[in-house]
Amino acid sequence: MKNILVTGGAGFIGSHVIRKLVTSYPEYQIVNLDKLTYAGNLENLKDIENAGNYTFVKGCITDEKLVSEVFATHKITHVIHLAAESHVDRSISDPLIFVRTNLIGTSNLLLCAKNYWADDFDNKLFYHVSTDEVYGSLGMDNSLFTEQTAYDPRSPYSASKAGSDHMVRAFWHTYHFPIVISNCSNNYGPNQFPEKLIPLFINNIINGKALPVYGKGENVRDWLHVKDHADAIDIILHHGKKGETYNIGGHNEWTNIDLVRLMCDTVDQKLGKETGTSRELISFVKDRAGHDMRYAIDASKIDNDLGWTPNYTFEEGLAETVDWYLNNSEWLKNVTSGAYKEYYDTMYAS
Ligand code: NAD
Ligand code: DAU
Repeated sequence: MKNILVTGGAGFIGSHVIRKLVTSYPEYQIVNLDKLTYAGNLENLKDIENAGNYTFVKGCITDEKLVSEVFATHKITHVIHLAAESHVDRSISDPLIFVRTNLIGTSNLLLCAKNYWADDFDNKLFYHVSTDEVYGSLGMDNSLFTEQTAYDPRSPYSASKAGSDHMVRAFWHTYHFPIVISNCSNNYGPNQFPEKLIPLFINNIINGKALPVYGKGENVRDWLHVKDHADAIDIILHHGKKGETYNIGGHNEWTNIDLVRLMCDTVDQKLGKETGTSRELISFVKDRAGHDMRYAIDASKIDNDLGWTPNYTFEEGLAETVDWYLNNSEWLKNVTSGAYKEYYDTMYAS
């Protein structure tokens, strides 16, 4: 029996994690605590919102009173912490909100959990979901991030996530507080806010808008389908060793420009356009400040210790993702127009 607090469950990855837990474990109670920032959208959870083992609470992870109440009311035994400000470009223009949510919010959650569990940590777990960006930037060689790679965050986003990882580990070492951390590579799939590369570009291709590739498009990312990430989170929740870190990745490196061309051709094919039509939309623009060159994950530990490997091939995952955005034009329209935010702000007005 578990009463699981999932933070950030209305976001991209969080919504996939919630759906998986709610449907796979009817005996668990799943509580979704989400502030509903611009990135949180309860539309993502429409299909399970009335499930008997699911509760939504609107609130901020920095709010000590509210978080303590959530722990007590729902007798929380496990936390899967995903709530974060997650977009690198936003962190460059507004770093402080990243410190507030990612660092102070995580610290507040840790303290509220420690207080509520009253230092009795049997059958308790604080699972912190982090990113490979804490490891910094790799060269254009065959090197990979392992769990031993030294932290070297280089954007305000990754620095705030690195700080939160350090705080989580500090609780483990100082208080024997039960934690586990995973650091994952770039996710893609349904329900991703169209500010990140893949959904932004799919939306722009559909609408015949320019595709702003930063710099020369030579940067490399390691892409993983969000449902593979949700599977990994499920496995780590149940079988991860306390105090450990697990890297999660897709063994799937792409330069941005090759990926953008693949997206153009995939959408063209699905819309019956001549191959090459959408490539005309590619526009090279000023590079992102401090743009990390390459991320790539060595995921052998989670494979060897817990038996997780990705299920999706990239070709099938990307084609399915393009189909999802084409078939969910209403979702995309509500998100890009801001209608979703107006609706839920009114519904949860305090
Ligand atoms: P997202 O931006 O789509 O969603 C974040 C969610 O957190 C939203 O629902 C938002 O409303 C909520 N939130 C933000 N601030 C909050 C606050 N102060 N209190 C309560 N809720 C708040 O993010 P995502 O892409 O789904 O990422 C989820 C987590 O996974 C993050 O911790 C991120 O660092 C990590 N991660 C993401 C990726 C990726 O490729 N997207 C890869 C590795 C790790
Ligand atoms: O590696 C995991 C991380 O992946 C997560 O922790 C972050 O939350 C997530 O946002 C993602 O970070 P990136 O910065 O790698 O993702 P993004 O989709 O913003 O960009 C992917 C690459 O595409 C990156 O090299 C920048 C480039 N890019 C992005 C955008 C939005 C462009 O060239 N043009 C764009 O318009």
